[in-house]
Amino acid sequence: MNTPTVLVTGATGTVGSALVPALQARGVTVRAMIRNPDRPVPGVENVVADLREPESVAAALRGMDAAFLNSPSTEDAAELQIRFAELARNAGVHRLVLLSQYAARADSPVRFLRWHAEVEAYVRGLDLDHTVLRPNLYLQALLGLAGTITQGWFAAPIGGAAVSAIDTRDIADVAAAVLTSTGHTGHTYTLTGPRAVTHEQIAHALSTATGKDITFHDASADRFTAALTGVLPSWQLEGLVEDYAHYARGEAAGVSASVADLTGHPARDLTDFARDYATAFTAA
Ligand SMILES: NC(=O)c1ccc[n+]([C@@H]2O[C@H](COP(=O)([O-])OP(=O)(O)OC[C@H]3O[C@@H](n4cnc5c(N)ncnc54)[C@H](OP(=O)(O)O)[C@@H]3O)[C@@H](O)[C@H]2O)c1
Repeated sequence: MNTPTVLVTGATGTVGSALVPALQARGVTVRAMIRNPDRPVPGVENVVADLREPESVAAALRGMDAAFLNSPSTEDAAELQIRFAELARNAGVHRLVLLSQYAARADSPVRFLRWHAEVEAYVRGLDLDHTVLRPNLYLQALLGLAGTITQGWFAAPIGGAAVSAIDTRDIADVAAAVLTSTGHTGHTYTLTGPRAVTHEQIAHALSTATGKDITFHDASADRFTAALTGVLPSWQLEGLVEDYAHYARGEAAGVSASVADLTGHPARDLTDFARDYATAFTAA
């Protein structure tokens, strides 16, 4: 297949910021969709658009061969992503790669998994070459806890459950591979790290990488909620608690070989992540 032109949504975000250089390395012409023109993604064409403004999205999609769809988990995320997919089809985009989540299911007790399943179902019904990526918990999500990790601890309502958390650089590598090769139409790929790890093991890996003593504390859902009330919008906070309950039930411990199969390199391990991001977890 000829290298396509690709619109990357969420280009400044966790996965998108790694996907842009991964696509460039494959010789792809990238158009980064951004909201703030004062913070362009370097080295590629930027287009200013907001998923909540359909005209801007339609303009961003014009002339693109393929699109990568990723946006934060907000109360209106399903509506925004479904509209994006429809606009992509209308714009003549040939291929859509959708970022979903591990265990997305219409009847899940986890709201994030329900909205992802709703978007997946819509995209499957469109007459469009599509692929769904379902990554598990991001190791990079730990960066959001760096404030307490630099003080030697972090807490979450997960107990001793193991999760096959994934490094977002691997998600970007998979997305780049899927966007630039054939044979992925209609596939749904579950993406995980190479093993399931407990939060105790995460604390140990971070301690080893930083040379500091970092401890994990199991927290009750109530204490976790109290700590984040006012920090996160209530819909997201309730969703996060549902997500952790799902992890705590051991429902996110499965390991998939898709990263290695699709990228040709092994999935990055927790210890790779801890080493590469050690400075982020070390107080200045
Ligand atoms: N976190 C995890 O562990 C995890 C695990 C599995 C799946 N996921 C899924 O990953 C997805 C992304 O999650 P994330 O929290 O890591 O976010 P993220 O990818 O970092 O997303 C933020 C990006 O979306 C852009 N954005 C925000 N609102 C937008 C809008 N209205 N229109 C256009 N672009 C907009 C942001 O742009 P600005 O720079 O302008 O703000 C930024 O580039 C979610 O669907 C989530 O369910 C997450």
